[in-house]
Amino acid sequence: MTELSRRKMLISGGALGALGALSMATPAHARPLLEWTWAPSGSIAGSGAGADPRWVWDEEADQLLASLLDRGAVPEVNRLLWNWTRNDQPLPDGLPADLRDFMERARQLPSWADPAKLEVAATFNKSRGIYLNLCNGVGGGMLATAIPNEARSVYYSKGGADMEDRVAKTSIFGFAVGALDAYRPGGSVVVECVKTRLVHAAVRHLLQQSPHWGGDIPISQEDMLVTWHTLPTFAMRKLLEWRVPMKPAETEAYLHVWQVTAHLLGIRDEYIPATWDAANAQSDQILPRNMGPTPEGVELTDILLSQLAEQTSPASISRPLCNALARYLVGDQVADWDGIKREPVWDPLIKAVWPKLVRFREGLIPLPLVPETAWVIDEAVRQYILFFLTKGQETKIEIPTINRPE
Ligand code: HEM
Repeated sequence: MTELSRRKMLISGGALGALGALSMATPAHARPLLEWTWAPSGSIAGSGAGADPRWVWDEEADQLLASLLDRGAVPEVNRLLWNWTRNDQPLPDGLPADLRDFMERARQLPSWADPAKLEVAATFNKSRGIYLNLCNGVGGGMLATAIPNEARSVYYSKGGADMEDRVAKTSIFGFAVGALDAYRPGGSVVVECVKTRLVHAAVRHLLQQSPHWGGDIPISQEDMLVTWHTLPTFAMRKLLEWRVPMKPAETEAYLHVWQVTAHLLGIRDEYIPATWDAANAQSDQILPRNMGPTPEGVELTDILLSQLAEQTSPASISRPLCNALARYLVGDQVADWDGIKREPVWDPLIKAVWPKLVRFREGLIPLPLVPETAWVIDEAVRQYILFFLTKGQETKIEIPTINRPE
């Protein structure tokens, strides 16, 4: 496909755009698994063994966390890490030596990290915050529940029993990545990435002991890539679809900040896409085969949307508006998998009004052309972002020691 026709497709395609062009109509479990053909030459490493990422995890972290859990060391580690919050902060005294050694290495930025690009990305994240938070928060959340591996592991892990706390913890991460000082010394994204990497390694060990699990080892490199694409790749596609003006240096920097983040989360460089073209190709290969409906995903979606609808006071957002916003973002296929109700009033309204709101924000159309109802939607989005900002202040990311309590 030429670059021009790809762009056109991305801009004109509804829902997931090219994410779904291939085989999204058939749920993941009903499709034969395609071979992994994405070439490591398209990765940030530029080369690699080309191993199928379904069967690769995070070996060093996984062994370490299994050992820490078996030794009963995790509660004390959590206590020590509670006040470890800044990128430039030394690790606290008293950590087990093997963990300290791992974390000292895991917190290093990769040699290919470009501070200048990270600065451009920070400014871009700030100026485009409203769109990015919406895509990564509501969009990413609704896509995650339509990824069976992710929905099931979230549901059966400890946090599945308290989705409010889980959302709060995830929002800490989201806002750390989007912050102006994200990768500066006073920022916190390095800390949150390393903590998350430890959490994921613990989940790999714990979930296999859950009577509900029964699958392969969770959170493979492929699973992480899938989730990664529901964040920057999805958001970039949406911004292009909405024709948000962006400079090439900004889109490149936005990719870069997420490349560095992927590395710090334990995704191998040989799988991290080097360019947007490589990212789109990888996304098109792995998303369709990893998406579909599950009862767990439907239940999680309902919890997430009702939380959003109930708690965004004072200008409380109605559940129908939340449903419609979610459907608009992820498209009918994913919304149906997630069991999101159709909203005869709001669904068509959001479709018609959102692009106008974007154009107004970007100074491309004058106020009289924005319909009155647009401001209800605008306020809903603002409230939503505020809700997540506040949630994130209430908690910290901690390593679980148990699965979801029965
Ligand atoms: C925990 C982010 C991929 C499953 C977390 C946390 C963050 C996070 C910030 C800590 C919050 C918490 O403990 O609740 C990410 C990012 C990913 C990613 C940015 C990829 C780019 C995945 C994937 C899966 C997954 C692919 C499963 C297939 C989980 C689970 C927890 C967790 C089960 C632990 C929840 C608990 O303690 O009960 N993740 N994640 N994550 N993540 Fe991920």
